[in-house]
Amino acid sequence: MTTANANQQDHVVIFDTTLRDGEQCPGATMTFEEKLQVAEILDDMGVDVIEAGFPIASDGDFESVAEIAKLAKNSVICGLARANPADIDRAGEAIKAAKRGRIHTFIGTSPLHRQFQLGLNQDQVHERVIASVTRARGFTDDVEWSAMDATRTEHDYLCRVVEAAIRAGATTINIPDTVGYATPEEYYDLILMLKTRVPGMDKVIISTHCHDDLGLAVANSLAGLRAGARQIECTINGLGERAGNAALEEVVMAIRTRHDLLPYRTGIKTEMLARASKLVSAVTNFPVQYNKAIVGRNAFAHESGIHQDGVLKNTSTYEIMTPESVGVGKSSLVMGKHSGRAAFRSKLKELGYDLGENAFEDAFNSFKALADRKKHVYDEDIEALVDEGVAHRNDEFKLEALTVIAGTMGPQTATLTLNISGQAKTVQSTGNGPVDATFNAIKQLVPHEARLDLYQVHAVTEGTDAQAEVSVRLEEGGRMVTGRSADPDTLVASARAYVAALSKLMVKRQKLAQAQQAV
Ligand code: KIV
Ligand code: ZN
Repeated sequence: MTTANANQQDHVVIFDTTLRDGEQCPGATMTFEEKLQVAEILDDMGVDVIEAGFPIASDGDFESVAEIAKLAKNSVICGLARANPADIDRAGEAIKAAKRGRIHTFIGTSPLHRQFQLGLNQDQVHERVIASVTRARGFTDDVEWSAMDATRTEHDYLCRVVEAAIRAGATTINIPDTVGYATPEEYYDLILMLKTRVPGMDKVIISTHCHDDLGLAVANSLAGLRAGARQIECTINGLGERAGNAALEEVVMAIRTRHDLLPYRTGIKTEMLARASKLVSAVTNFPVQYNKAIVGRNAFAHESGIHQDGVLKNTSTYEIMTPESVGVGKSSLVMGKHSGRAAFRSKLKELGYDLGENAFEDAFNSFKALADRKKHVYDEDIEALVDEGVAHRNDEFKLEALTVIAGTMGPQTATLTLNISGQAKTVQSTGNGPVDATFNAIKQLVPHEARLDLYQVHAVTEGTDAQAEVSVRLEEGGRMVTGRSADPDTLVASARAYVAALSKLMVKRQKLAQAQQAV
C-alpha cells in the first residue's frame, strides 16, 4: 500500500473529512445510506483520501466505514483512532476491505490537552505516540499521525513527538489548528520550522487541518501549502466542529484560479463541486449560506446594473472563474412542458445524472407533471425531483392523497390517504395549523412515539410557484432518521418528508429487533 500520490511534488492530496469532522458538528448526523451517498460522490469527484468515520465511536460508524471501504473505487479510505489499542484495532478492522486503507491516529500534544484532557506528562504522551503509530502500522503501511492542538504546542516538544511518529512509521504528519487560533503567517512559520528541524520530515507528507473559528481556515491551509505541506484536510461546505473546517471547494478553486501564486494541482473534478455541496447540505439539513464562496446561490449572481452590464459584455469583468467550472450550470436548455425525452435526457446528463431506464421514466413523468404546474422548470427543480425519486424508491409507506382545509376559520383539517404495505388507508385529523393537522393524520395511521426534532422548509428556486423542499428529522430512543421531499405544494412535501422519515424509522426498528433476536 502506498500513500496517495505522495511522489508528485506539486500534487496536493485532498483529504476530505466531511464524514468524520463534518459529521461531528452539532445536528449534522447522517444516516448510513446518506454516508454512502456522500462517499460515492467524493470518490467519483477525485478526492484522494476519504476519512469515512471514527470506527470506535459507535457500531453505526464502524459499519459505514467498513461499507465505504468495500465500495470505494479510487479513494484511500481512512478511519480515525485515538492513541489506544482498542481504537486502533477497530479502525484497522473497519478499513480491512479497502483497496487502499489508512489509519489516522491522534493525541493532544499541547500543555492544555496534556494536562487537562489526558492527565499525562510529556514523556507519557511521547510513549503513546510511538505505541499507537507502531500498532497502526501492523494493519496498514499508510498511517497518518496528528498532533492535536499542534498550533498551541511548545515548538521543541512538537518537534520531539513529530520525530517519534516518523520513526515509528507514520507516512503522513498532520499539524492541526484544532481551535482555529493560528494566523496564516504563524501557520506558515510553524510548518517551515518543522520542515527545517525534524529529521525525516522530507520523507513524509505534511498535512494541514485548520478550523475556522477566526474565519482563517482556508487562508491557513494555503499558507501551510506554501511552506511545504502537500495534504489539505477539508470538508464540503466547510462543515465541521464549531465554526467548521477549511472548505474543500474553496481550497480547490483557490489553487485552480490562482495557479500563478499557488503552483500546485489537485485531482478534483471541479465540475462536481456544486452537486457535492447540494448533497451534503441536503443530507445534513445544513443550508449553504447564500453568499458562500464557490457554491452559494449568489456566488455567480449579478444584481447591480453596472455588474450586469459588464458581465453581458465580458463575463471576466466580474467573474474570476466560470460557473461551469464548479458545476453551476449555465442554463443552455430551457426546460418546460413542451420538452421531450431527448431534451430531458440531455439535461440530466448535463446535471451529472446517469439513470437506468425505469428511474429515467419515473423522473420524466414527474418532470412532465411538474412542468404542467410550473411556468419555468429550473435545473434545481430537476435535481430536486430526481433526488426525490431516488430517495423514496424503498419507502415502506407512500402518500397517495392529501386534502387540507386551511385558513382563518380553524380548526385546520387534513384528509390523508397512505399506502401501507399495498393497502390504502384514509383518515381525517385536525391540528394547530395545516402542517400539524397533516402530521396528526400520519400519526393516526402509523402510531409512534418518535419526537419531531426538526421541520425545515426551503424554496428550491424563486417565485411563488417554486418547489418547497422540506426536511424532517425524527428521534426515537436515541436513533435519528431524516426524510426529505420537494413539491410545489408545501403540505404535500411536508407529508412526504414525514412519511419518508417514518419509513426509515421502521427499517431501523426491524434491524434492531433482528439484532436483538440474534444475540
Ligand atoms: O481538529 C483536530 O485536531 C482533529 C483531529 C482529530 C485531527 O479533528
Ligand atoms: Zn478537526
